[in-house]
Amino acid sequence: MYCVEKMFKVGIFLLFLSGVDGLGVNWGTMATHKLPPKTVVQMLKDNGIGKVKLFDADQSTMSALAGSDLEVMVAIPNDQLSAMNDYDRAKDWVKRNVTRYNFKGGVNIKYVAVGNEPFLTSYNNSFLNTTFPALQNIQNALNEAGLGSSIKATVPLNADVYFSPDDNPVPSAGRFREDINDLMTQIVQFMSQNNAPFTVNIYPFLSLYANEHFPVNFAFFDGASNPIVDNGLSYTNVFDANFDTLVSALKAAGVGNLPILVGEVGWPTDGDKNANVNLAYRFYKGLLPRLAANVGTPLRPGFIEVYLFGLIDEDGKSIAPGNFERHWGIFRYDGQPKFAMDLTGQGQDKFLVAAQNVEYLSKKWCMFNPNAKDLSKLADNINYACTFSDCTALGYGSSCNGLDANGNASYAFNMYYQAQNQEEFSCNFQGLATLTDQNISQANCNFTIQIATSFSPKLLPMFITFLTAFTFILL
Ligand SMILES: *[C@@H]1O[C@H](CO)[C@@H](O)[C@H](O)[C@H]1NC(C)=O
Ligand SMILES: *[C@@H]1O[C@H](CO)[C@@H](O)[C@H](O)[C@H]1NC(C)=O
Ligand SMILES: *[C@@H]1O[C@H](CO)[C@@H](O)[C@H](O)[C@H]1NC(C)=O
Ligand SMILES: *[C@@H]1O[C@H](CO)[C@@H](O)[C@H](O)[C@H]1NC(C)=O
Ligand SMILES: *[C@@H]1O[C@H](CO)[C@@H](O)[C@H](O)[C@H]1NC(C)=O
Ligand SMILES: *[C@@H]1O[C@H](CO)[C@@H](O)[C@H](O)[C@H]1NC(C)=O
Repeated sequence: MYCVEKMFKVGIFLLFLSGVDGLGVNWGTMATHKLPPKTVVQMLKDNGIGKVKLFDADQSTMSALAGSDLEVMVAIPNDQLSAMNDYDRAKDWVKRNVTRYNFKGGVNIKYVAVGNEPFLTSYNNSFLNTTFPALQNIQNALNEAGLGSSIKATVPLNADVYFSPDDNPVPSAGRFREDINDLMTQIVQFMSQNNAPFTVNIYPFLSLYANEHFPVNFAFFDGASNPIVDNGLSYTNVFDANFDTLVSALKAAGVGNLPILVGEVGWPTDGDKNANVNLAYRFYKGLLPRLAANVGTPLRPGFIEVYLFGLIDEDGKSIAPGNFERHWGIFRYDGQPKFAMDLTGQGQDKFLVAAQNVEYLSKKWCMFNPNAKDLSKLADNINYACTFSDCTALGYGSSCNGLDANGNASYAFNMYYQAQNQEEFSCNFQGLATLTDQNISQANCNFTIQIATSFSPKLLPMFITFLTAFTFILL
């Protein structure tokens, strides 16, 4: 009896682990102040995250991942796609960025992402001619290197590569976008021949952002009152509807069973009226238990491999898509969790494990000088500060939108001062700014202190020894 019960518990425990195992995160590094890669890898381990998707194959990131057992997707950025149209260059890329790490104690690479959303309509067809040849060359080079059975090339694509027609807006009517239908058909058939997965990024937040009349509850998983019914299947959230539109498009292209992995899904926490901690919490609270329970979608029940977007906020990202772009992290810039989320899908309200031993700059803030007399240059100075730092929290609907004029100035000056590593002369602004050691944060608006990113001198010799040893192992 006891034994059976114990086995049962072990069974439950394994089931519970499998929920975690399936889950990956995107580790983007477009931040002005990056946490050390080793710190990030430890944070992934501490939180039971088993898979990570990168946007390049940067050596420092790869070195930190070596020996970790984490499954890794490395990537070729869009601006290198045309180079990969040359098969010798593609072979060289695979040698330098994949084969090189393929040893016991190396990096457990599972996928190579060829480009990142190269067919976005906003890219004006720039990568239309180069993506497919690059994909073929990379997969062929992997195959030639004897790695093709365990490492697959894929292309992370935005959900705007498929659609369903306005006169029949249901998932079963899904097709690839007309302007790229032939190309997409060739791509997915090539993936199918190589047993490689289709990678799609799905963003319910963007559905809401793009369309003021979008039914808000449909962006979440906790029950839209009027489901879309399609051939007897009932859709209560846009994630499922979007995913199944792709399933239908693949079927129409003759590869209805092509595996699909979700390369990015998540919710931002600042920079828009719908980007905040409460809604992000609600989104993940619905998503994670469904993933752990392998519910799947109406057309594809079962396990879906998913990578959350993203791991850490990136204050250096372009805000062309919107101010929210720098706030997708499930962790803040300093590796602190933002809200309760349970990656095991058990729905518990607990916080993720924060990054360990993070070092900060001194507790000093830059603020508007209340004694400043000449305010004629204030707007120019705020503008300057915000051009070279991240003021996205000041916008409409964002966490610092309620500040008064002086508060706005202080926020901008402080962000600049921190971005400049608290350099002595970076808190002046023609006499409009002054330093304070008082925490001038207000209500929901956090006046942050940046992290210290340079290595402290006393650690340096050790670091060099370590690097040398490591480079040796890798070469
Ligand atoms: C691939 O490896 C080379 C050599 O280490 C490196 O210079 C390059 O940046 C890597 N590629 C990417 C996309 O990270
Ligand atoms: C695409 O075209 C538009 C309009 O011509 C232009 O404003 C934009 O900068 C272009 N984008 C890219 C990525 O080339
Ligand atoms: C892609 O190829 C087509 C046909 O050869 C050509 O007309 C088009 O200009 C090319 N596009 C780019 C961005 O190079
Ligand atoms: C503060 O800055 C934000 C963003 O630039 C702006 O919308 C708001 O009107 C400013 N507030 C005041 C009181 O100047
Ligand atoms: C400053 O105060 C805010 C709000 O009270 C708090 O969240 C933040 O951690 C404080 N910052 C520092 C560096 O102590
Ligand atoms: C506020 O900023 C501090 C660092 O200055 C950071 O440690 C803390 O996590 C932030 N808190 C919030 C609520 O943003």
